[in-house]
Amino acid sequence: MSVYDQIAQARSSAIGEIEQVDDMESLTALEPMLFGKKSTLGSLKRLMSEVDEAERAEVGQALNQAQTDVRDAHTAIKERFIAQNRRFQLETERLDLTESLAANKRGHLHLVTQTMERLEDVFVGMGFTVSEGPQAETDWYNFEALNLPAAHPARSMFDTLYLDLGERTEIGDGEGGEATNILLRTHTSPVQIRVMESSPPPIYTVCPGRVFRRDTADASHMPVFHQIEGLVVDHGISLTDLAGTLNEFTAAYFGGAIRSRLRPSYFPFTEPSAEFDITCVICEGDGCQTCQRTGWIELGGCGMVHPNVLANCGIDSEEWTGFAFGFGIDRLALMRYGIKDLRDMYTNDVRFLEQF
Ligand code: PHE
Repeated sequence: MSVYDQIAQARSSAIGEIEQVDDMESLTALEPMLFGKKSTLGSLKRLMSEVDEAERAEVGQALNQAQTDVRDAHTAIKERFIAQNRRFQLETERLDLTESLAANKRGHLHLVTQTMERLEDVFVGMGFTVSEGPQAETDWYNFEALNLPAAHPARSMFDTLYLDLGERTEIGDGEGGEATNILLRTHTSPVQIRVMESSPPPIYTVCPGRVFRRDTADASHMPVFHQIEGLVVDHGISLTDLAGTLNEFTAAYFGGAIRSRLRPSYFPFTEPSAEFDITCVICEGDGCQTCQRTGWIELGGCGMVHPNVLANCGIDSEEWTGFAFGFGIDRLALMRYGIKDLRDMYTNDVRFLEQF
């Protein structure tokens, strides 16, 4: 058989092989047989030295042409597979968006997310940083470090959801490697602890996030809701700084007509503790149904960080003092927009959501 016949045969058998392949995987597997040194055309190339000097150029050209033809056939089928895979992927990952397309609706952030972001903006404007922490917490961060040991009666303030980890109901992440329960955080206060543990004072931070309590959903309660916590630790911080900060925040977020006030209260992690109220945003203090004719609405809790809490985070309470506050974001949005039922925020009815 002449060398030209051998080349022609190698070329057509390679192209024949390519045409038999029916997916990308087998094509990739075939590649060494098409282009490698072990391919028929590859071994013919190595025979070039045995070809007569006079014929070498012509044989070389024939070989190159054959190689180009094989490559072209390979590229064509490869492109076909890529297109096929893409079509398959589009088909399987298809989302039916015709409903929103037909109504020409554009999505936007949920009301709670919008509110959270606005709150963050106001606090960032006042010089605070934003910190986050995990939603599944240990007993230590959610309770113990916050001056709430296991048998503390105030634990009943928080209807806690514990996580069932199957065999591993406890992990060794308590203080000193002690076993501890894992729970869904009942408030954003554990983030305070994490911040104080990981960064030395001065601290000026807010911690927004999702929290969980064992509650039945009704017009004003949800088992999942959102809070924002504030924490300041610095030299010489006193209750007046807390009152001033809350007043400043209230004016910045709600506008000048709305003021804040403190009322004595109790939290295990702050001493002294207070509830903070704001002027009713509906009647601006005149008294209405929403504020039960008092002119004030309760927004959240606050107080001076308890020395035990500072000590649990390795902060010397003789040198540093601080305040903390926390309030619900969902209820804030509810009040601001005069929404009657908290559950409406989470049933994902587009007609409700698109109003905000
Ligand atoms: N963590 C408290 C709650 O969820 C609120 C709070 C935060 C109170 C900070 C005082 C200081 O009820």
